[in-house]
Amino acid sequence: MVAAACLRRACASQRAALVVSMVGLTSRGLRADPDPEPKRPTDQYLAEYSQLYDHVGMLQDDERMSAYYDAIHLNAAAHFENKVVLDVGSGTGILAIWAAQAGASRVYAVEGSGIGVHTSTLVEAHGFSDVITVLRGRMEELELPEQVDVIISEWMGYFLLREAFVGSIVYARDRWLKPGGAMYPSSARVIVSPLHAPDFVAARRRELDDTMVAWDDLSAHLAASYGLRMQSLRPAYKKENQDYAFAQAWQGQVPARVISGEGVTVLDLDMQTAALSDFFGWTANIRLPAASPSSPIHGLCGWFDVRFCANGDVAADHCVELTTSPLAPQTHWGQTVLLLQPPLMQPSLAVGLEQSAASHHDLNLTLSTAAWSQSFSISADYRGWDGDESEGDESEGGKGSGEGGEGGEGGEGGEGYGYGDE
Ligand SMILES: C[S@@+](CC[C@H](N)C(=O)[O-])C[C@H]1O[C@@H](n2cnc3c(N)ncnc32)[C@H](O)[C@@H]1O
Repeated sequence: MVAAACLRRACASQRAALVVSMVGLTSRGLRADPDPEPKRPTDQYLAEYSQLYDHVGMLQDDERMSAYYDAIHLNAAAHFENKVVLDVGSGTGILAIWAAQAGASRVYAVEGSGIGVHTSTLVEAHGFSDVITVLRGRMEELELPEQVDVIISEWMGYFLLREAFVGSIVYARDRWLKPGGAMYPSSARVIVSPLHAPDFVAARRRELDDTMVAWDDLSAHLAASYGLRMQSLRPAYKKENQDYAFAQAWQGQVPARVISGEGVTVLDLDMQTAALSDFFGWTANIRLPAASPSSPIHGLCGWFDVRFCANGDVAADHCVELTTSPLAPQTHWGQTVLLLQPPLMQPSLAVGLEQSAASHHDLNLTLSTAAWSQSFSISADYRGWDGDESEGDESEGGKGSGEGGEGGEGGEGGEGYGYGDE
């Protein structure tokens, strides 16, 4: 069944919600600094999820699928039987269907993109039309008929937070979760590991040199043939190419052999209590003991894990973990690589993260020491890190467009630019 959306502004309960948010009072207690109104997902972002094609990569990811399947089915008695469940960003509807299989009395499956036309089809095919209510629209703009016992969602993006879908989850929790209700997943961490990849960095520098030689050749040709003086644009072209390699995150499956030290947790949040401001706008001061003048670090490999140990009034029977560690079986997320220029030779480092001013779905990361600072963007426009050529197997290539890593979350990154992958 597809229910009509009720815009929040038009709904009677909005006034009560506003009063609550003005005094910073949530169902979980007083908060001195209430979160501002959530930023709704943009049309462009939702369009990335609108086709079945955009969901195939996620459905193929057995690490992801089995973690959610186990988390729901192994905790059926504790959290799902006879419970009201909200599935935020239901997509094809698989989590809602598993919640219904686990005995939920009612499941609200909310989906904001065009994929929602298929959600009801799959729900019907599993015989759950009487249990699952499909609601098409943005989470932030819908009214549910009741509060829920459990919120389930697969909201994680690159570096955990790219997409900023977590904002919709925090919103849904504060608005619709009963006190003592359970969050699936229940906690999330971001971890960074040092990277030893001198060949990969050297190859990027060679590419840059080759690119500028090609520019100079072009410039000479245009001068000789057409009298054009192109060299005033040389610095800008060089910067463009430098940023291309060193100021945007690389995304893909990072081989364990280039990880050169223990991972360090830079963010560790409880989904039951974390405020939106805990996810974005933070700085973590960390130590990477592996970094020294004799063993410089060429980059950071960032990844995340989430746990399903539901933290409501009733503990989970079985804690399940989904990790995207480079040392664990691959997932469609892969890992995020930030190349350091110059390499880091001392262990202290500050890692800062904020949402991009240009698009709240994208991230800006800053790495800094007392003497140096470097910024990176994590967006759908990532460079594809190809694990097979990342170290010790460098074929000359230049920047060519190809499949970025394993293809992105929600179809993003289909246009990766993998070195040597033409
Ligand atoms: C990562 S996919 C997960 C789909 C499905 N739950 C699964 O596990 O296969 C996230 C889904 O959330 C939807 N979505 C993102 N933000 C949303 C919002 N604020 N309201 C409703 N749907 C949203 C997207 O369109 C997308 O289909």
